[in-house]
Amino acid sequence: MAEADPIQLLAVAGARPNFMKIAPLLRELRASERFRTRLVHTGQHYDASMSQSFFDDLGISAPDVNLEVKSGGHAEQTAEVLRRIEPVLIETRPRAVIVVGDVNSTLAATLAAVKLGIPVAHVEAGLRSFDRSMPEEINRLLTDAIAEWLFTTERAAEENLRREGIPPERIHFVGNVMIDTLLAHLERAKRLPTLERLGLQPDRFALLTLHRPSNVDDRARLASLFELLEEIHRELPVVFPVHPRTMASIARLLDGRMPALLTSEPLGYLEFLRLMVDAKLVLTDSGGIQEETTVLGVPCLTLRDSTERPVTISQGTNTLVGSDPATIRSEVRKVLATGGKRGRVPELWDGHAAARIVAVLERDLS
Ligand code: UD1
Repeated sequence: MAEADPIQLLAVAGARPNFMKIAPLLRELRASERFRTRLVHTGQHYDASMSQSFFDDLGISAPDVNLEVKSGGHAEQTAEVLRRIEPVLIETRPRAVIVVGDVNSTLAATLAAVKLGIPVAHVEAGLRSFDRSMPEEINRLLTDAIAEWLFTTERAAEENLRREGIPPERIHFVGNVMIDTLLAHLERAKRLPTLERLGLQPDRFALLTLHRPSNVDDRARLASLFELLEEIHRELPVVFPVHPRTMASIARLLDGRMPALLTSEPLGYLEFLRLMVDAKLVLTDSGGIQEETTVLGVPCLTLRDSTERPVTISQGTNTLVGSDPATIRSEVRKVLATGGKRGRVPELWDGHAAARIVAVLERDLS
């Protein structure tokens, strides 16, 4: 009997935090003979340091299609992905579309596919900050409301989805694909000479990332954060790879005055991981870094008032410190004095999340 034709799937990625999530999925999907998976890059992120370097570091093959939407307002960026992905969906007619995370590309691809009757699998579903001023929260709520498969990373996500009336049979607790990537690349990253390159000693520096609109789009908040971080830097060097959005804010709001920290271009995946491994502490407003530091056992002070990833607080090394300088200062001092929170690795963050997802799709699509 002839082999059945492979089932056509379309995976979508668009912005930096999507690439480390899509990589293990593509590897597992392409290892399965049941599927033929194409990759669409929406082009939401396009600088080499925000996109291509991740394809190189993570060994992701070139996308089959690049929609090249680039930057714009939320409506414009979302609308461009919608407009440009629809013909790709019509032409390739996948049996299902796979989206990850919570960026504008995630929502737009989901909406375009579902309206064409193509079911969507959302990887990293159900996370909620309960702060609707965050663009990502809107993307998460809307994507989950219409996706067919909701793959979750932690128990709280499942509770959120049930509360929103999602039928339990759509929810699959599978673990964390971003941690699949971290565990797969950790040993390679540890061999990089990044510390030497930057003149750093293990456990003798802090690592900072900052890009949330709430922190970097407000002049007073950004200036007061930088002032405090400069104070910390005088005691413990602060390494700060600067996101393009933050760079634009520094130019617009602070007359281009860079903070007196160890600033650099955005780093590649492996170099950033190398730094996280040996950081005394990480200061961040990112979502994913809260999870990565939890797995690495490195204290993370999150410069936000809420998190959509509560397991990183209840079980991991994460502490919410908001944006008040006095609170941040005292939490940094605590880490310096005590070594900071020691957590444990959350359930199913074991490097096999992508395999679990592919097993569910194989079962449901055969
Ligand atoms: C997006 C995601 C955010 C994620 C972040 C990681 C949304 C709503 N937000 O935010 O969840 O944490 O990515 O980076 O999707 N820019 C460049 N080059 C690039 C990309 C961006 O110069 O390659 C600049 C542009 O000036 C752009 C700005 O950064 O206007 C913001 O980019 P955008 O993709 O709109 O949002 P991010 O802040 O990166």
